[in-house]
Amino acid sequence: MSSSTTTERVFNFSAGPAVLPEPVLEQVREELFCLPGVGSSVMEISHRSPAFVGVLDDARERIASLHQIPDDYEVLFVQGGATLQNAMIPANFLVDREQTADCIITGTWGKKNSQDVSYYGKLNVAWDGSETGFTRTPEQSELNLTEGAAYCHYTSNETIHGVQFRDPPGVGEAPLVVDQSSDFLSEPLDIQRFGLIYACAQKNCGIAGVTALIIRHELLERSESRLPRYLDYAQHAKGASMLNTPPTFAVYVTGLVCKWIQETVGGLEAMHRLNQEKAGLLYELIDQSDGFYSGHAQPSSRSLMNVVFRLPSAELDAKFVAEAGEQGMTGLNGHRSVGGIRASIYNAMPLGGVQALADFMRDFVQRNG
Ligand SMILES: Cc1ncc(COP(=O)(O)O)c(C=O)c1O
Repeated sequence: MSSSTTTERVFNFSAGPAVLPEPVLEQVREELFCLPGVGSSVMEISHRSPAFVGVLDDARERIASLHQIPDDYEVLFVQGGATLQNAMIPANFLVDREQTADCIITGTWGKKNSQDVSYYGKLNVAWDGSETGFTRTPEQSELNLTEGAAYCHYTSNETIHGVQFRDPPGVGEAPLVVDQSSDFLSEPLDIQRFGLIYACAQKNCGIAGVTALIIRHELLERSESRLPRYLDYAQHAKGASMLNTPPTFAVYVTGLVCKWIQETVGGLEAMHRLNQEKAGLLYELIDQSDGFYSGHAQPSSRSLMNVVFRLPSAELDAKFVAEAGEQGMTGLNGHRSVGGIRASIYNAMPLGGVQALADFMRDFVQRNG
């Protein structure tokens, strides 16, 4: 931990846990000591109290409303991060060991997800971008899908490689399961195309501790009560996301982030436009830098959330990160497996933060190019 005592906020480009919208932080600060009308903070009240049930219902309804979720879908909150979903998905959806899960692997997180499938059934890697260093999403024609697969999993945004699907892949009849951990609530979605959407909150919709799920009702029954209760989606739905004590503070923050998207940003279309504008600033600059900055992802697969690029040498990468830090821009170092720079510009990163980074990048190339 830094020994600095400054309380001035920086532009935080961390990949996660990540920046939160300032109005959300301000409301948290205001309500931290005492939730209005409750007499205690949200951290101190029973999860069964009407006040907290109201907080959880509010968060659930806001997600449902943002995504205009059809009646045959359920919003759930669970713990264990996105990582527990690597086990819960095959445990629930592979009814016996003869069933197959198709996995489309476009980066580290999709790969990790595929690694837990064989505990429960058969794995078919429908596409794997590892040989080319995870620089793109597959063409539809490249997918090697299984007839009768129990489900197909993909990661809409690979946080480490900065590779994002523009549209969900077509997978026929198999329920489509998506890890949206790093682009949840960043754009409108046609929910009907999905069987299950899941996202840990600490990047785009809150803080660590809670994972949001949007699941089609018919899939809740796949587990057929074969599983320990906590691993069973149907039990979480029956228990209204209160099978045990939920991460109350994290659920509360997720509700506030959703409210911010609804009331301040103006919904998911507006959120998407803002995200396109922010990412566009950085990619345009990368493309116009005569190769000084080189993007990791191919242009058609570029992430609006994590802009991954490198400079001509590792020394310049390090200098870039250090000088940006001195100018109040932090968290820019690339993941250790990829190196270079990663600017995570999630929903909550203000346009001003991206403009400041773009100005810095322009200046840096002039001085070092
Ligand atoms: C796309 C994606 N999936 C899964 C995870 C793992 O999330 P958690 O640490 O909450 O298990 C991450 C975290 O960085 C991620 O970015």
